[in-house]
Amino acid sequence: MAMLSGKTAFVTGGAGGIGAAICARFAKEGAEVIAADVAEPAALPEGVTWRRYDVTSEAAVRQTFDELGGLWDKLDILVNAAGIEIEKTIEDTTLEEWNRVFAINVTGMFLTAKHALPLLRKSPGASVINFGSYDGFIADPGLTAYCASKGAVHALTRAMACDHGPEGIRVNAICPGYVDTPMLQSFFRDSGDIESLQQAVRDVHPLRSYGTPDDIANLVNWLASDEARYASGQLWVIDGGLSAQVQQMRL
Ligand SMILES: NC(=O)c1ccc[n+]([C@@H]2O[C@H](COP(=O)([O-])OP(=O)(O)OC[C@H]3O[C@@H](n4cnc5c(N)ncnc54)[C@H](O)[C@@H]3O)[C@@H](O)[C@H]2O)c1
Repeated sequence: MAMLSGKTAFVTGGAGGIGAAICARFAKEGAEVIAADVAEPAALPEGVTWRRYDVTSEAAVRQTFDELGGLWDKLDILVNAAGIEIEKTIEDTTLEEWNRVFAINVTGMFLTAKHALPLLRKSPGASVINFGSYDGFIADPGLTAYCASKGAVHALTRAMACDHGPEGIRVNAICPGYVDTPMLQSFFRDSGDIESLQQAVRDVHPLRSYGTPDDIANLVNWLASDEARYASGQLWVIDGGLSAQVQQMRL
């Protein structure tokens, strides 16, 4: 039987590289899926509908979940995947840029989860999956606001898991390393010689490759399913072994 049969899922950032792969996988596993994003997806798999959604607007978030309450009798899966990054040190980051990164990556997650709670409580086994990053544990140079925001997501995830576990709501964070999406491509584009940089990034991984959105969707799918009924409050690193290894001189 399909792993998510009879479940409903709401995915922020559902038009992005990782979000779209998650929506497609959820639909394939039998869930009814809403891809919620400021951007419209290029294509929508069967079983997925798109809703224009801005995680930074509390009015829009509240209205969305009010309307969803009339459509669905419960929400089983919430994925908070909307996110942005800017590549700057603190010295070069303006206050406006800092606030924008936190508004989308952290406050947007808080607002969506807060207003989704009444519907999540109606599920017999709800699962919330937040997008952190390996950058929340260790830092990529020149990515300060992003690294700080992902550290906040990790702490938020643990706190939510403690508060809402007794209500039967599981909360986990996925912490990817390099995943081949528009976000990663823009990181490469801003960094000069794309070919040699891509090769260097592959070479630094023990598995000698970076991840695909489907690699991430596989783990998200399991965390969303009832097989993961005892998994909560954890930060699931999926990075091709990158963060397991110290940097060594190649002699
Ligand atoms: N790609 C990677 O290497 C990588 C690594 C670690 C963590 N992540 C995290 O995974 C998540 C998904 O990243 P991705 O690589 O798919 O990025 P992406 O840029 O492909 O997708 C992000 C999506 O978020 C949407 N978004 C931005 N602002 C929004 C807003 N205000 N409201 C609603 N939606 C908004 C964008 O329109 C986009 O569709 C992000 O949280 C990211 O930080 C990605």
